[in-house]
Amino acid sequence: MEKKNIDWENLGFGYIKTDYRYVSDYKNGAWDEGGLTEDDNVVINECAGVLQYAQTVFEGLKAYTTEDGRIVTFRPDLNAERMVQSAERLEMPVFPADRFVDAVTQTVKANAAYVPPYGSGATLYIRPYMFGSNPVIGVKPADEYQFRVFTTPVGPYFKGGVKPLTIRVSDFDRAAPHGTGHIKAGLNYAMSLHAIVDAHKNGYDENMYLDAATRKKVEETGGANFLFVTKDNTVVTPKSNSILPSITRRSLIHVAEAYLGLKVEEREVYLDEVEEFAECGLCGTAAVISPVGKIVDHGKEIFLPSGMNEMGPVTKKLYDTLTGIQMGRIEAPEGWIHVIE
Ligand code: PLP
Ligand code: COI
Repeated sequence: MEKKNIDWENLGFGYIKTDYRYVSDYKNGAWDEGGLTEDDNVVINECAGVLQYAQTVFEGLKAYTTEDGRIVTFRPDLNAERMVQSAERLEMPVFPADRFVDAVTQTVKANAAYVPPYGSGATLYIRPYMFGSNPVIGVKPADEYQFRVFTTPVGPYFKGGVKPLTIRVSDFDRAAPHGTGHIKAGLNYAMSLHAIVDAHKNGYDENMYLDAATRKKVEETGGANFLFVTKDNTVVTPKSNSILPSITRRSLIHVAEAYLGLKVEEREVYLDEVEEFAECGLCGTAAVISPVGKIVDHGKEIFLPSGMNEMGPVTKKLYDTLTGIQMGRIEAPEGWIHVIE
């Protein structure tokens, strides 16, 4: 199959229309059989539940070309499972997990010409999502829904690739205790837009959100979980009910322990202790692992000893092992790699 003529090495994280997308509709209490379409437009009523009350959830995963030329995705079953949890929290019907994986597989296969070549540094980002599609004016869940999957080839999420980021402690909250921070709902990202625009205006790459109840504990950023490394090489990652359970983070915990023999602590992390850490990184599908060089807390600058030029050594080992597994250079744990073709 011939690849599209795209400058893979210089792709940013943006939307490029690909040829096919998957659509399934939910009506009268059941999902239809679904299938691929070339139509990239969604036509819904002006009063659709998603437009009035933001009833929408989504997922994000990637397809990779491996060293031996296969196209694979990474743990799509966990994205399917998380979308079930997101849908349940927003009173939406569940799109069955096996059908989710099948829809992702069909969409990637149909867009194989857009899966970036091995070694290009780019990947095919996959965006499954669903939304309330029929008119809703009283505040209640919709009765009809649409599930879709589209794909877009992407490069690094942060400009500059793996150059360490400068982040600030945000005065805005992302998620409330007992709220929706633990699910992947569009409303959480709408909440973060003002904070990220303001951060960029002030010269920061991202926001570090604190727990809304006490504002003493580290939560996550707008689109990634945190990983810290202590001076004696223990990996520490914040535990909270109001952060998204990142699949990348959960995978990295296993990689750290089983592949690299590192100690891992998943626990509450206080802002006060951040200056003690040796390394910091942001992890997620889009972010992969993006190193953090500096954290600014209301004028107080915390420089990570790993510096502003490169990833810290433990972060680098985690990055190399995870991406090695995803690209087929390192043997994956059972069930982590889903072969598309
Ligand atoms: N946290 C937030 C708020 C996110 O949007 C994402 C991206 O999906 C993550 C964390 C990382 O999750 P994952 O590793 O499953 O992509
Ligand atoms: C992802 O990593 O898949 C996300 O959804 C994060 C988003 C900020 C692009």
